[in-house]
Amino acid sequence: MDILEPGLSELVSRGLTSGRLNFVVGAREAVRDAEAVFLCVPTPMGAGGSADLRAVEAVTTEIGDVIPAGCALITKSTVPVGTSKRIQAMLGRTDVPVVSNPEFLREGTAVEDFLGPDRIVVGSDDVAAARWVGDLYADLAAPVVVADAASAELVKYAANCFLAMKLSYVNSIAELCERLGADIDLVTEGMGYDRRIGRSFLKPGPGWGGSCLPKDTSALVRVAESVQYDFTLLTSAIEENIAQRDRIVAKIAGAVGGTLAGSRIGLLGLAFKAGTNDLRDSPALAVASVLGALGAELTAYDPAIGGQLAGMTVVDDPYQVAKAADAVVVLTEWDEFKRLDWHYMAEQMDGDSVVDTRNLLEPRQILDAGLSWQGVGRPRAALRRKVAVS
Ligand code: UDX
Repeated sequence: MDILEPGLSELVSRGLTSGRLNFVVGAREAVRDAEAVFLCVPTPMGAGGSADLRAVEAVTTEIGDVIPAGCALITKSTVPVGTSKRIQAMLGRTDVPVVSNPEFLREGTAVEDFLGPDRIVVGSDDVAAARWVGDLYADLAAPVVVADAASAELVKYAANCFLAMKLSYVNSIAELCERLGADIDLVTEGMGYDRRIGRSFLKPGPGWGGSCLPKDTSALVRVAESVQYDFTLLTSAIEENIAQRDRIVAKIAGAVGGTLAGSRIGLLGLAFKAGTNDLRDSPALAVASVLGALGAELTAYDPAIGGQLAGMTVVDDPYQVAKAADAVVVLTEWDEFKRLDWHYMAEQMDGDSVVDTRNLLEPRQILDAGLSWQGVGRPRAALRRKVAVS
């Protein structure tokens, strides 16, 4: 497997060994005897911020006349409301029901999420077909929401955009914490015990990214526009995400004395989150690109990423990012960064600033190494040693 996804290699090997998984060349060949066909093609952000449906349309055209009668055509891809209807019209057949069955897998835990889902959503204007698809998951013991096609299609966007708004809200509260002298860790702990809010998805960071939240927020704003609804709540969440990136850049600038031009900055982490080697819409890259544009010299390390990247030197040893650095910045929450020898890091560095955009490190450990620590929304943690000394 060329993607980092725990359990996936084993699953594919098991399928191949048992003979239950086969690969063939050509989509037409794959669907010939099928009872169910899953469309799992990408729907990236297209022109103007809408979902680009070209892959969905191309594959529908390709297989349309060879799908057996009675076979369900099931859309896993994230598609705007109305796409099931459009696929049905493109097929020009009434003997192939189209069912929307969005997935909610997170990268890095995709296999686990697939086998232990919080819920299954199936939607079609052919209710019997939707129920039949729901039954395919009977062994997974998850609640099944049977819906019409439009509702099922909207669930995926509604869920992802809610998560994005939750994170923008947390990042805003973290900013308030910094200005008011409060600690976001304590604030979110206090919020999270409220079961209506929940404890997950409450960690501030350099902004949310990845292959889904950015494109889905943008696509839902466009969908709303198409029905003359100005989704200001969601637009603000997107703007807040850009503002968060800029605040992180400003914090790093402050850490190197105010001027990024000519400064040397070591970056720990490039992936959009830990546990993946995915760089798509990575906030780490967004921050790096602004730092680079403002004249900083960048050296980066990520345990899952090698090779070359424009605008920075990528190294394969975390200690190399500290070499002659004015500041070291944690951008992705890889556990191994916690276990670095920060005394040794300090020896390598020219400056003494550590900016921890994920609140990953133990501040005391950084301060004990003679470095300064700044996180996000935790002004008191940065002062802890001074308080202890006085
Ligand atoms: C997301 C959805 O979670 C998943 O249900 C959907 O199917 C696809 O999109 P994924 O893109 O893999 O999954 O990443 P996720 O774990 O949701 O993280 C998204 C972004 O939010 C990352 O940049 C992550 O670092 C950030 N994040 C997440 C935070 O900053 N704080 C948190 O508390 C959680």
